[in-house]
Amino acid sequence: MGIKDKDWGVNVDHLPDFWVDPEKLSVIQDLMFSGINVMLTGDPGTGKTELTKRLAQAHGLPFHRVNVGAIRTPRDWFGHWEFIAGQTVFIQSELVAAIQRPGLVALDEFNRVTPDIHNSIYTILDHNREVYIEETKQHIAVHPRCIFISTENRGRSHTGTFMEDTAVDDRFESIRLELPPVEVMAGLLEKVYQADGDQALLLARITHKLNALFHEESLSRPTGFRPAISACALLRRGQPLKTALKYTFVNRFSPEGGVDSEQTTVLQVIQAYLPSGK
Ligand SMILES: Nc1ncnc2c1ncn2[C@@H]1O[C@H](COP(=O)(O)OP(=O)(O)OP(=O)(O)O)[C@@H](O)[C@H]1O
Ligand SMILES: [Mg+2]
Repeated sequence: MGIKDKDWGVNVDHLPDFWVDPEKLSVIQDLMFSGINVMLTGDPGTGKTELTKRLAQAHGLPFHRVNVGAIRTPRDWFGHWEFIAGQTVFIQSELVAAIQRPGLVALDEFNRVTPDIHNSIYTILDHNREVYIEETKQHIAVHPRCIFISTENRGRSHTGTFMEDTAVDDRFESIRLELPPVEVMAGLLEKVYQADGDQALLLARITHKLNALFHEESLSRPTGFRPAISACALLRRGQPLKTALKYTFVNRFSPEGGVDSEQTTVLQVIQAYLPSGK
């Protein structure tokens, strides 16, 4: 299984139906093929989780994703105990298998857990690239062609995440993902999500404007790709444009405050971009 030797480490210059800034895409690949761990950061819905999968696909790498938020104790990374036929047995995790073979391991939402949960995988992620599994009394070496990419959310809209300690920062190079440029996003909405050309452009413009207002601190939450994807789905099902926008972009924001509410701001943005008379 896996990638042919001659293809190992050859960068691709784009990913099908997925946009990443070309310089970032090439640096991410250079890092991952140099054995350096990558941390993808950025607002929600900027494609962090999806990119890990697309990179594995583009390079024909076996892919394993760990939902880090579901790790409850430092030992959960490696497996869990089960009571089977009168005995407690240790069921080793998929992660332990994945790190011993070539492939891409995504540690998704890495900062969804407290830093003490990270401690037990530090030796996997630093130059040691090995770990001792107490439960099975095994020393495990990480395969030289096992690539680690983590994702995390940083920023004021993220409750339920934890500040990184320097131990983590030392083990990853961070790359921040952004929304695709308006025209590129519109093109993706048209091609992948079957919006018509004008509507795709409108949704991309609204997304960019609302996200800019978040960064200017005029709105309390960022706007990524997802509301536009949901709006495309409603439009495909025959909903009128206004309804599609209401249930995707508008309703994510609070109506509290009446004319001064966040919803009012969003409605004004939409009104400004809608073709007149709609
Ligand atoms: N740059 C992009 N190009 C194409 N599709 C994108 C891009 N960014 C996001 N998407 C689409 O938007 C959706 C959300 O992306 P994804 O789940 O990867 O976001 P995320 O950054 O991991 O968000 P979160 O921080 O909430 O986990 C996916 O369907 C993804 O395909
Ligand atoms: Mg994600």
